[in-house]
Amino acid sequence: MKNNLKLHINGRDHEINVDPGTPLLYVLRNELKLNGPKFGCGLQQCGACMVLIDGEARPSCRMPVGTVLKSKITTLKGLIGNDGALHPVQKAFVKEQAAQCGYCLNGMVISSVALLEKNKNPSDIEIRQELAINICRCGVHSRVIKAVKTAAQDL
Ligand code: FES
Ligand code: FES
Repeated sequence: MKNNLKLHINGRDHEINVDPGTPLLYVLRNELKLNGPKFGCGLQQCGACMVLIDGEARPSCRMPVGTVLKSKITTLKGLIGNDGALHPVQKAFVKEQAAQCGYCLNGMVISSVALLEKNKNPSDIEIRQELAINICRCGVHSRVIKAVKTAAQDL
């Protein structure tokens, strides 16, 4: 049953009228036109739909929106500063050309931001472990690791 729900996304409050069981990904993309997070597997297994929930990288494709009403949600767009500047992780992905088709990029960037919040100087293995959920069919993993290391230097 639809309800009026309040969400805090990218530093702003939003009110939407949806069923609390609706996956957060659908709310972001269909109701709020925040299209950074992508639909991939729909099974919390590929990472394409990731967002930051209170700073933690989480898949949003099966997360009921009613469970995150008290959380701070950040999407790819929310990483951009008020002055329009890209986040250092986004800049590093551009600098290292860490994408091919780009479909996995949202999840790769979100996971990398969460990792660097916890660990300012991650090793290759730590980066691989943290980004293990993020599937890339194009095989750009080595460039992603380079981008995370570049971002770590710049942060
Ligand atoms: S679409 Fe959510 S993890 Fe694949
Ligand atoms: S760049 Fe194509 S899926 Fe990763």
